[in-house]
Amino acid sequence: FMKRRKKWSRYPPGPMPLPFVGTMPYVNYYNPHLSFEKFRKKFGNIFSLQNCWTNVVVLNGYKTVKEALVNKSEDFADRPYMPVYEHLGYGHKSEGLVLARYGHLWKELRKFTLTTLRNFGMGKKSLEERVTEEAGFLCSAISSEGGHPFDPRFLVNNAVCNVICTITYGERFDYGDKTFKKLLTLFENSLNEEAGFLPQLLNVAPVLLRIPGLPQKIFPCQKAYVDFTQMLIDKHKETWNPAYIRDFTDAFLKEMAKGKEAEENGFNKSNLTLVTADLLVAGSETTATTLRWAFLFMLLYPEIQSKVHKEIDKVIGRNRPPTMADQVNMPYTNAVIHEVQRFGDVVPMGLPHMTYRDTELQGFFIPKGTTIITNLTSVLKDETAWKKPNEFYPEHFLNENGQFVRPEAFLPFSAGRRACLGEQLTRMELFIFFTTLMQKFTFVFPEDQPRPREDSHFAFTNSPHPYQLRAVPR
Ligand code: HEM
Repeated sequence: FMKRRKKWSRYPPGPMPLPFVGTMPYVNYYNPHLSFEKFRKKFGNIFSLQNCWTNVVVLNGYKTVKEALVNKSEDFADRPYMPVYEHLGYGHKSEGLVLARYGHLWKELRKFTLTTLRNFGMGKKSLEERVTEEAGFLCSAISSEGGHPFDPRFLVNNAVCNVICTITYGERFDYGDKTFKKLLTLFENSLNEEAGFLPQLLNVAPVLLRIPGLPQKIFPCQKAYVDFTQMLIDKHKETWNPAYIRDFTDAFLKEMAKGKEAEENGFNKSNLTLVTADLLVAGSETTATTLRWAFLFMLLYPEIQSKVHKEIDKVIGRNRPPTMADQVNMPYTNAVIHEVQRFGDVVPMGLPHMTYRDTELQGFFIPKGTTIITNLTSVLKDETAWKKPNEFYPEHFLNENGQFVRPEAFLPFSAGRRACLGEQLTRMELFIFFTTLMQKFTFVFPEDQPRPREDSHFAFTNSPHPYQLRAVPR
């Protein structure tokens, strides 16, 4: 007991918890980074909060986050259990991938997903061909706006969602498709349901979830979204042929068919729904939002856009579609895309982690089972790592010879064992979509509209406020 008390005396400092609610009233859950900045100034890079009875530690700055996620990777590899998702089928042996507890099931599933994504398209269309084809559809859709002002949001979401839908369910949708529109709306509203105080409270006080019908009432879109993906899977099963793997769902069904042992390893029906929904959620909004930031920055910084145009003209020309092989010859464009990710800061708080065992960080003791928030904003805008942290400055990614460099503090995908598994796919999508559109169009402000806002809207992701642009053919 004495030993334990001694250890806890080195627990990270933080604001004084109130009875029952802990420190929750002190945090602005609609803009947590503002509250975190305040606490960081007062308590330092590692501070503690308390969500009702749950211990939470927030890690700030590149050095701290790297030390935890990379140097002590396994200690920080767990995820907190999220009772709010039980109404979607989340639970023992079906935790999906993103929110799975660290352990055997997660390891199996992560390995399977990475391999399937990597092998995807072998002998058929490669992933790059698919992305290039979709970029072509997006270009045509933008051309048909005829140079008039439009909000790029819907078309960009469509295109990105199509890539991940094709990988996962073997289906792409036409941009005018009604079902697809419904899916995208459900999707957006699902994210908004995540924001704010109530979901946080329900996670730490799950007894409230026993109130009949409450979760469905609070998260109606999430439920509808999962039902929708279930429908895609059911449709899929009707045409399933184990000899011919068309997509991720087919590969998963093949694993499931191996029987009891596979079931024990998480290859079961409800996990299929959750894992594929995970891929869609994790893989579409993030990438689409990054592209919307990219186009907004091109509007706001026309001199940067014009340098991108020049590099594309020099390396690719105006007609041939861009390929990933062009990337090494295009340091400036590559730097712009990376700076969009750094400055756009799309997943500002990462995903919650949990300590897998008692651990120490920079002299602080953090017990097993503590929820860990990695403040990625504080890494991507760390004053000790970036020359101009609060400006859009592509030169962060160029050395004095104009060659591309990637500073270590570039962690939009987080780091360590739970780091984003979609990084390769994202890199490809961002490069192909961005260069294809920049090759064909100049993006300009509609004359009669106010200058778009540069600040972000937070709802799990940081996204730009809606804006309009004109795509003038080059
Ligand atoms: C996890 C960022 C695109 C699949 C994550 C995490 C971040 C992130 C910050 C949390 C890592 C952690 O817990 O420390 C992004 C960004 C993207 C992107 C900024 C695009 C701009 C994608 C794509 C896919 C994907 C395209 C799908 C193929 C996942 C999965 C996880 C994850 C499955 C959970 C990994 C695990 O818990 O083991 N991502 N992501 N992401 N991402 Fe991404």
